Amino acid sequence: MKVIVTERIADDGIEHLRKDGHEVDVKYGISHEELLEIIENYDSIIVRSVTRINEELLNKGTKLKVVGRAGNGVDNIDLPACTKRGIIVVNTPESNSMAAAELAVGLAYAIFRNIPQAHWAGKEKKDFRRNRFLGNELDQKTVGVIGLGRIGSIVATKLKGSNMRAIAYDPYITDEKFKKLGVERCETLEELLKQADLITIHTPKTAETINMINEEQIKLCKDGVRIVNAARGGLVNEDALYNGIKSGKVAAAALDVLNPEPNYDKKPEEQDYENKLFELDNVIITPHLGASTDEANYNVGTCVAELVADALRGDMVAAV
Ligand code: NAD
Ligand code: MLT
Repeated sequence: MKVIVTERIADDGIEHLRKDGHEVDVKYGISHEELLEIIENYDSIIVRSVTRINEELLNKGTKLKVVGRAGNGVDNIDLPACTKRGIIVVNTPESNSMAAAELAVGLAYAIFRNIPQAHWAGKEKKDFRRNRFLGNELDQKTVGVIGLGRIGSIVATKLKGSNMRAIAYDPYITDEKFKKLGVERCETLEELLKQADLITIHTPKTAETINMINEEQIKLCKDGVRIVNAARGGLVNEDALYNGIKSGKVAAAALDVLNPEPNYDKKPEEQDYENKLFELDNVIITPHLGASTDEANYNVGTCVAELVADALRGDMVAAV
């Protein structure tokens, strides 16, 4: 059968599909419009977080049987529209959790100690005096984890290892899990916001979580709070964050995800992202690097390829 892969996955995954007898077209960075033109030729499509699988695409993709999400979040896929058409959607939620958690912890350290800004000042031969980059320690501070699932749990554990007090808000997680992780439960988001020196967000993007950190929530935070979002763009409202940083209420923020999310597979000359948060020295932004490790790439690529091959063969698979 014919499979199109629209975002970068490990070569081992592509090889797996080819060995299984499938014809695989690799079209990294393809635009939505280009994809609409050719999707009718494919039985399956493998995507990451940028390609939008929406009604428009599904209406054209009349042969589609399987959508493979190489990674975790499925907010770019219209699941009801796929279900309506009998299209199976598979993803690989476990395969990049460690990579994403490690990035979130790295971002926390980076914004507590101004590491990227200091490096940049030296590289650009700007003001490289060390007193410009005075930071704070994570030790003995409070981390507030929003969403204590796969990634949030790892982040909480790792930051407890940095001698932080860990609190979390996740109404869907049992007391037993909180106890096992040694994390204090906050009954409300407000309770967390009032105590945390560092807020790190690890929820999916849903109607309930979009803009969950808005102007109002930022007002409730401690002065000098730092915020990490390595989950999904739009969970932290970007205007509210911009204003929070400008006013000094928020000391720093690190974002691995933006709203809207640029297409990070585009060549440098074609990149067209615009975001006013880039103007701010104490906001650091990475191009959705959470899953970008050799280990996660391999896990995600091989896992999604196996699932797609199984589903195309008609074997039983755990669909989203
Ligand atoms: P998960 O499903 O294991 O955990 C999410 C947790 O959020 C769950 O425990 C759920 O109960 C909780 N939650 C849901 N709604 C909530 C709400 N309104 N308030 C508080 N908690 C709520 O997901 P995960 O695997 O830990 O992934 C977390 C996020 O990270 C997702 O958005 C995922 O797409 C994203 N992610 C990003 C990268 C990256 O490259 N930056 C990599 C992997 C995953
Ligand atoms: C995910 O949800 O798995 C991550 O956002 C990583 C990605 O696929 O880009």
